[in-house]
Amino acid sequence: MITYKSEITFEDYNNLRMLVGWNTITKRQFDNAMKNSSFFTVAYDGDKAVGMSRGVGDGGYHLMLVDVIVHPDYQGQGIGREVVSQFMKYADDSIESGEGISLTLLSAYGKEKFYEKFGFHIRPVGKEGAGMNLKYVKK
Ligand SMILES: CC(C)(COP(=O)(O)OP(=O)(O)OC[C@H]1O[C@@H](n2cnc3c(N)ncnc32)[C@H](O)[C@@H]1OP(=O)(O)O)[C@@H](O)C(=O)NCCC(=O)NCCS
Repeated sequence: MITYKSEITFEDYNNLRMLVGWNTITKRQFDNAMKNSSFFTVAYDGDKAVGMSRGVGDGGYHLMLVDVIVHPDYQGQGIGREVVSQFMKYADDSIESGEGISLTLLSAYGKEKFYEKFGFHIRPVGKEGAGMNLKYVKK
């Protein structure tokens, strides 16, 4: 059975990243990232971390979905849907009647259809220009 909790070790976090071909981060970056996340959930099969999502925001209007990862052995079983659904619920719960919130993400190539299921749309569209990012600045 898959269970969900808001905790993950530095090693498990970097391991999930590596399993899907992403770069790893330092312990200092990890500690700050977790401390400053608005939201995060981790899927466990027993004590094995098999998926996660994280929300980074200002606590008011802007909230970005990041680190949506499912262990390759566990993909296609609904874990991705669950970790994004939990993020969406967090976003909904974070605002009051009459308020709105801006939810953004940068999709990995080929994953756009996955996110469209939650209502996200591909830019540019209408008056919205393309999303832009600088991969990272390395020292
Ligand atoms: C993208 C990812 C998180 C999906 O997780 P998952 O657990 O395999 O997805 P789920 O099993 O919950 O699938 C939910 C739905 O999305 C669909 N889906 C999953 N991946 C998809 C894709 N790449 N394209 C289109 N649809 C997709 C599923 O078919 C399912 O559809 P349904 O609701 O109609 O049954 C996972 O493939 C992953 O971790 N990939 C590597 C890391 C990555 O690229 N993350 C995204 C970063 S932006």
